[in-house]
Amino acid sequence: ILEILLKGLRRLEYRGYDSAGVGIDGGNGKEWESNAKSIQLIKQRGKVKALDEEINKQQDIDLDVEFDVHLGIAHTRWATHGVPSPVNSHPQRSDKSNEFIVIHNGIITNYKDLRKFLESKGYEFESETDTETIAKLVKYMYDNRESDDINFATLVERVTQQLEGAFALVFKSVHYPGEAVAVHRSHSCALPFFSVFSAGKDKKSCSALPRTDQDTCLFPVDEKAVEYYFASDASAVIEHTNRVIFLEDDDVAAVMDGRLSIHRIKRKTGDYPARAIQTLQMELQQIMKGNYSSFMQKEIFEQPESVVNTMRGRINFDNNTVTLGGLKDHIKEIQRCRRLILIACGTSYHAGVATRQVLEELTELPVMVELASDFLDRNTPVFRDDVCFFISQSGETADSLLALRYCKERGALTVGITNTVGSSISRETDCGVHINAGPEVGVASTKAYTSQFVALIMFALLMCDDRISMQPRRREIIQGLRVLPDLIKEVLSLDDEIQKLATELYQQKSVLIMGRGYHYATCLEGALKIKEITYMHSEGILAGELKHGPLALVDKLMPVIMIIMRDHTYTKCQNALQQVVARQGRPIVVCDKDDYETIKNSSRTIKVPHCVDCLQGILSVIPLQLLSFHLAVLRGYDVDCPRNLAKSVTVE
Ligand code: F6R
Repeated sequence: ILEILLKGLRRLEYRGYDSAGVGIDGGNGKEWESNAKSIQLIKQRGKVKALDEEINKQQDIDLDVEFDVHLGIAHTRWATHGVPSPVNSHPQRSDKSNEFIVIHNGIITNYKDLRKFLESKGYEFESETDTETIAKLVKYMYDNRESDDINFATLVERVTQQLEGAFALVFKSVHYPGEAVAVHRSHSCALPFFSVFSAGKDKKSCSALPRTDQDTCLFPVDEKAVEYYFASDASAVIEHTNRVIFLEDDDVAAVMDGRLSIHRIKRKTGDYPARAIQTLQMELQQIMKGNYSSFMQKEIFEQPESVVNTMRGRINFDNNTVTLGGLKDHIKEIQRCRRLILIACGTSYHAGVATRQVLEELTELPVMVELASDFLDRNTPVFRDDVCFFISQSGETADSLLALRYCKERGALTVGITNTVGSSISRETDCGVHINAGPEVGVASTKAYTSQFVALIMFALLMCDDRISMQPRRREIIQGLRVLPDLIKEVLSLDDEIQKLATELYQQKSVLIMGRGYHYATCLEGALKIKEITYMHSEGILAGELKHGPLALVDKLMPVIMIIMRDHTYTKCQNALQQVVARQGRPIVVCDKDDYETIKNSSRTIKVPHCVDCLQGILSVIPLQLLSFHLAVLRGYDVDCPRNLAKSVTVE
């Protein structure tokens, strides 16, 4: 079980990696019992590797002990309350003898009041976390129970009723050996979906549809040898099972006596919690690094295939048609809307910026692109005839999810553009497009960006498929998409050249990236990649704004990258190049490989193949992805796990 837990944690590490912990049956130095009533906690600051080393140091874990039923919980943390440290990491415990332990994703907003109450009852807190309140509260409720035979699920349900905020929790207790209870609620804030995965040596025992038995959904298990997994992401368990159940808000899922029961808190009459088992398409090898040194590098090099997967079955290149099954019932309504609002964070926001112009051109609608947090801060007016897009790789980003709920409340049609089937955004939007880029593990988003880009372009093409005047442009773009994978391969072949460039730049403090039009998004995205994994200062600058301030930064020492492509902004970009050169700047120019004019006038160029103007941004961003990767490696940083960041930002 330790091995399974640690492996699962390593797969989830991208969600947070400042500390980790496990709670398993067995006692720190106590007698082992067949149904181990004592619980051992091992926690460590740092990555899962540090936890693994700590476990190996502990002398009193007997790995050969056999249990009738064995259960462990584990967690990798991204600190929200309290610094990363063993005491703040999860599982959190009720008391020094580990009577109840709990792991938690999310935030408990009323934890201060609960903590005050528990302190007044004599509970001593050891951590700064909101989670410890839950562990103490469950013990308090257990110690003050009215009847001795209260079951674990009921106890957890009572605790949950006292909690405000957003959470996914799993509990384990010495009072309920061999049992685990999980609960999930994310009304006010986003959370990773928290799912129950069931599998077993005898898989057929779990294949039956759930039996709805009054208000509880039971998964009857005829044979003994069945394993159950709870996980916040399929990648943690995919090698054991691809058969999953998605928990819904206020579901309490309990494993007891080899059975899984799901029961709903605050069930409305007739709302039976029947939960079907779903089969995931994910393969284990998709989440392995293969021959690459990091997931980020693997994902950059996967882009020729990931964009094909985004288009697969959706574009017919022979008759220039686009089909998006997830939008087909809503496309007429979208065509009649007042405006499109694209809402996202970070890289996903840049995908919106990158495609805004072509969306405006092909839909002839006003398009707003909004950062989810700012959109909410401004209480932006949203109307029933708006269509709001939520672009999110994970589908779990708290700010985007809150913005989605905000738009839904105002009656707008909501569309999800996500990479994670079953994620909160994909479930809560009215319709949408899965980008099908495959799991993205590296914290720095790369292939998701290019696939989001392609998905939004396909949407724009669909919006104008019956407009005769648009057909030549549509054909040009669709044929551009046809050759895109080969052109991406060509850009990737520049890797050695870009690595060399990185050796010249990696000791610099700052890099400015300038461009305009279709490539402004490339500048923002390139700068974000450099910031987040190399910790160098980097800024994406709209070339049109140069003379309004940023030009003051330019001198002969400041590294400058300029994106100049042969589109409608070409002449203006040439002017910007001249302005930089006139201040003794020596920009590295990403340009079209046939643009002899720019090649002649620049001290250094990265030459990329030419494609249709509105797709060129896919090709111009890849050299910057590669550059940030090589800079981070040369600076000696962990490319996949940059400091202070997490892959899914499930807190506001
Ligand atoms: C940057 C990056 C982040 C995410 C942002 C939104 O490389 O990964 O900026 O793009 O946190 O995440 P999603 O797309 O999952 O909503």
